[in-house]
Amino acid sequence: MKLARRVEALPPYLFAEISKKIAAKRAEGVDIVTFGIGDPDLATPRNILDALHTAAEEPVNHRYPESEGLPELRQSISDWYERRFEVKFDPQKETLPLIGSKEGIGHVALCFIDPGDIALVPDPGYPVYEVGTMFAGGTSYKLDCNREGGWKPDFDKIPADVADKAKVIWLNYPNNPTGAVADFDFFERAVAWAKKHDVAILHDNPYCDVAYDGYKPISIFQVPGARDVAIEFNSWSKIYNMTGWRIGMVVGNPVMIDALMRVKSNIDSGIPQAIQKMAIEAVYGPQDCIDEHNAIYQRRRDRMVEVLRKAGLEVDMPKASLYVWAKLPDGVTSADYAARLIDETGVVVTPGRGYGLNGEGYIRLSVTTPDDRMEEGLRRIEAWAR
Ligand SMILES: Cc1ncc(COP(=O)(O)O)c(C=O)c1O
Repeated sequence: MKLARRVEALPPYLFAEISKKIAAKRAEGVDIVTFGIGDPDLATPRNILDALHTAAEEPVNHRYPESEGLPELRQSISDWYERRFEVKFDPQKETLPLIGSKEGIGHVALCFIDPGDIALVPDPGYPVYEVGTMFAGGTSYKLDCNREGGWKPDFDKIPADVADKAKVIWLNYPNNPTGAVADFDFFERAVAWAKKHDVAILHDNPYCDVAYDGYKPISIFQVPGARDVAIEFNSWSKIYNMTGWRIGMVVGNPVMIDALMRVKSNIDSGIPQAIQKMAIEAVYGPQDCIDEHNAIYQRRRDRMVEVLRKAGLEVDMPKASLYVWAKLPDGVTSADYAARLIDETGVVVTPGRGYGLNGEGYIRLSVTTPDDRMEEGLRRIEAWAR
């Protein structure tokens, strides 16, 4: 049997590797505390679960869904964007539901990238941007993001020949893995740059409602003219604790949305309708859960930052996202640090190198670990670092 080169070339998915290591340690009897994946530990709110129960009883929801989603789901996406960001989208032409935003992020390269084409991808960044590009036969040009630059690319530093050849640029603020945020000026510069070089912007915004200290992340569509060049991915996953149900969305430029719709309708059959009903309830039901969750994450963030600083790591307090991004002492690699931590304490963190070369020297910790386990994990880190 001969596998395709694209599969041979595939790096192991970071979290699949970490899960394997956790399983092996647990099999040895080690009590593991994990700060690995950004997967909310809190339950999906009751009203959203009730919507699932009701919808599951209706035979109409037992059948194939349409790939483009229920009209009322697309309306809810449009209403949510209007309520949250004061921007309007035509539900039929400018919104599209996804089987979790990761699915759309993985497939969207098929709309833009032909073999040999260039995608501009942040380093460090969410690994799916690069893998989707590779699947489409394209090449990722890594955008140098670093602490001094607030983990944002400097558009002026993108060589003109690369900019002119590039088909898409990926952006993601609030950012995974760094927790960095971007303001209106940054997105305004991104839109101007993309128009100048005729590059499509793919903005990934799943942490827009996971924010602290009163900070409110924005949408790229608050910039006038963004719709000419951009789409924005978003998700119910992190806002409503719905990672397990797999439902996301993309909004923006109608030509780009239509292209993704055409690709998707040929390879998937949409999102189970009962889950679409959960998402609709999430949009129109009570929103108190958002502040409640953020208060919990904020408390955990504060505690985690305090302990990591005591343990000798440099940490900038994140204003948003589920992540604390910590700089290791000079000369220590992220893989070594993470391996020693799990071997010597049973605590799992994500090595920054997994997000690109610029992630080397950093580790990422997620605040989605239940309070008692988090305290246990932090206690072990503090004792270990002494
Ligand atoms: C930056 C970023 N984008 C997209 C996703 C995917 O989210 P989902 O597929 O659950 O909508 C994640 C998940 O961790 C993420 O961190």
